Amino acid sequence: MRTDPFSIINKYLDKGSLVYRVLMEHGRAVADKSLLIARSVADLHPDLTFIEEAAMLHDIGIFMTREPRLGCNGDKDYICHGYLGRELLEQEGLPAHGLVCERHVGVGLTVRDIERQNLPIPRREMLPVTLEEKIICYADKFFSKRIEALREEKGIEEVRRRIAGYGQDDLERFERLHALFSR
Ligand SMILES: [Fe+2]
Repeated sequence: MRTDPFSIINKYLDKGSLVYRVLMEHGRAVADKSLLIARSVADLHPDLTFIEEAAMLHDIGIFMTREPRLGCNGDKDYICHGYLGRELLEQEGLPAHGLVCERHVGVGLTVRDIERQNLPIPRREMLPVTLEEKIICYADKFFSKRIEALREEKGIEEVRRRIAGYGQDDLERFERLHALFSR
């Protein structure tokens, strides 16, 4: 069944607001890269319609966080945007899209990551599982949310450097995705 991601974005965000622009531009950049990757692994039969919808919505939870730089004036930590997006999309009847939100943060998060870093999010496995979740999580790592560079794709070495900063486990997870999507 098709979903209109824009009707959901428009329901929660004011057109013309900064967070609306961030969500639309970043979502479009991630959707375009995700679709390119998906087409390069067509033999694995990724669901292109779902990928485009879910990529547009993957960061919908950011407006509930405290990140004034992005026009987000909520009260939650930024790291919460993944599971908050999942809850919102579940309420909208889109549980599979919601899992993309929850599982795209970092290179996914394990219960161990959450406990070790004492992150203010539910203690459950948040690793990307399906092909579509993996594609969107991977594609997202190539884009920052710097307002002046929302559409600017980073080079692979820059992506690696940033992820290495989160830790060796994250880098290894990223390298597995990279190997899958750069064959
Ligand atoms: Fe993102």
